[in-house]
Amino acid sequence: MKFLRLTVLAAAAALTTLTATLAAAQGAKLKVGLMLPYTGTYASLGNAIENGFRLYVAEQGGKLAGREIEFVKVDDESEPSKATDNVNKLVKRDNVDVIVGTVHSGVAMAMAKVAKDTGTLLIVPNAGADAVTGSMCAPNIFRSSFSNWQPGYAMGEVMGKKGIKNVVTITWKYAAGDESVGGFKEAFEKAGGKVTRQLNLPFPNVEFQALLTEIAAAKPEAVYTFFSGGGAVKFVKDYAAAGLKGKIPLYGAFVTDGTLEAQGADAEGIFSTLHYADDLNNPRDKAFRLNYAKTYKLQPDVFAVQGYDAAQILAVGLAAVKGDTSKKAEFAAAVEKARIDSPRGAFTLGKNHNPVQDIYLRQVVGKENKVVGVAAKSLADPGRGCKMGG
Ligand code: PHB
Repeated sequence: MKFLRLTVLAAAAALTTLTATLAAAQGAKLKVGLMLPYTGTYASLGNAIENGFRLYVAEQGGKLAGREIEFVKVDDESEPSKATDNVNKLVKRDNVDVIVGTVHSGVAMAMAKVAKDTGTLLIVPNAGADAVTGSMCAPNIFRSSFSNWQPGYAMGEVMGKKGIKNVVTITWKYAAGDESVGGFKEAFEKAGGKVTRQLNLPFPNVEFQALLTEIAAAKPEAVYTFFSGGGAVKFVKDYAAAGLKGKIPLYGAFVTDGTLEAQGADAEGIFSTLHYADDLNNPRDKAFRLNYAKTYKLQPDVFAVQGYDAAQILAVGLAAVKGDTSKKAEFAAAVEKARIDSPRGAFTLGKNHNPVQDIYLRQVVGKENKVVGVAAKSLADPGRGCKMGG
């Protein structure tokens, strides 16, 4: 029985390989499964990622490695409890060649598990879950964005160097919030600071009032926060309305990205660390921003860049295997050697397939996250627990 099951599995795998090879040889369409949030607090992030991805494909004439791209879309609603079913739809029902997704770390971990079990290519264009390029790392899983640890760690160093000693953190209680604060705390306490209180609320709740009252009473020197999307808009507005703006400086990651139109003056002056900023002014970024604005009548943000770079990573891998996605080892080898010419500045992927990249210190001026300096040069995620390639 066991032998039979193994034989059937092996035959199924061989058939998948054969199908992929034939499809590539015939120049058939390449199916990209976009699993992103199109509703809920992260909806604008999902849309920006898709826009960025499509922009790069359009710039290549709609084809990568000679294959036209066909998209299949799933709204994952940033809902971890539906994630396994959603990703299985793409893999088993739609037979996609590659999955691109997602934003939410909890959903991304379920996707990584399925990708690992089935060998399907997965490119993560946002979710920072440390495990995706840590304990769950795999030869067929890549990330075009960051690990939650990276911007947090960089900010811990920045605030430590400023001589700040006493910080309260506030975030959503799930992997992204926990790990962003974890990275921050690691560097900040190494520099001699102390996180005196870690405040949390469940994702995606926005009832901040009681926690803001607690911050006002605790009177820390500064606050470190991770929120994003619709929740970040409300948090920054509520922080100002509670009278904390100008009294207790707010530092963070993602809290002012893709949100500045809605936050207005309440965001002015906020410092944050990230692998992108709105005024990098390198030629690659200028061309990207111009084309994005022309195509979508919108300003791009870090999420659009991550989508664009997910497509670049796919293009590099596909070129090396001439469009044959069954050649996983060759695909990975090409991506591992590549220098991705990103609007954020060129980056490479580490052995754990997470970007090794500069993390900028930025400050909000008007409607932009403007660069103040480089907070951490070529910062690599430690890839804790990743057993791949050393
Ligand atoms: C995450 O869940 O990993 C996440 C979500 C939104 C962000 C960044 C990270 O802006």
